[in-house]
Amino acid sequence: MKNILVIVGSGMKNGNTYHLAKSFADGAKEKGNEVHLVLLGNKNIHGCINCQQCQRDHHCHIQDDMQNLYSLFLKCDVLVFASPLYFWSLSSMVKAFIDRLYAISTRDEYPFKETVLLMTCGSKSSYAFDQPLAFYHFLNKQLKWKSLGVVLAGGCKGKVGEKHLDQEKYNEAYRLGNRMG
Ligand SMILES: Cc1cc2nc3c(=O)[nH]c(=O)nc-3n(C[C@H](O)[C@H](O)[C@H](O)COP(=O)(O)O)c2cc1C
Repeated sequence: MKNILVIVGSGMKNGNTYHLAKSFADGAKEKGNEVHLVLLGNKNIHGCINCQQCQRDHHCHIQDDMQNLYSLFLKCDVLVFASPLYFWSLSSMVKAFIDRLYAISTRDEYPFKETVLLMTCGSKSSYAFDQPLAFYHFLNKQLKWKSLGVVLAGGCKGKVGEKHLDQEKYNEAYRLGNRMG
């Protein structure tokens, strides 16, 4: 059984990214894994300001909702990044979360994690996710983390607040969740 932290970097509580992440979480729970799904849209997480106090004191001095997420991060075996594509990148909510992990590093060493990337976007183009996908693999390589899989759901168009996701993408995320543990 694994401890899985799913970070959803969308402001839409019922949006495409949440539903893709929820499918993954359901698949993982079905196999007895412990899953914590966190909606960053409900949180106040400031970007890292490079004050460097964390490198001296070993904790982040910015008092916001990230303080509650550090313990979840440290406990998890699998870290799942779920993000809408914003201007061909990860959303700033996910990026702020990643940048704030700097506070738990010592000499640029990070605790080992297995990772997953789940993304949604409006475009159906084959290259829409190239930039965040490259970043995700680069991050894993640099931090010596291991990717367990990726689900990329393009063509998510429609009215704000309604989910617009191919059933096949839900199934793909569920199956990937099912393979955890
Ligand atoms: C600020 C912003 C930027 C976006 N940039 C892109 C983009 O670069 N390419 C794209 O295909 N879709 C883009 N989209 C569309 C979203 O990626 C897409 O609708 C996504 O499924 C929204 O997820 P959500 O329902 O979880 O919010 C953008 C949406 C917003 C709000």
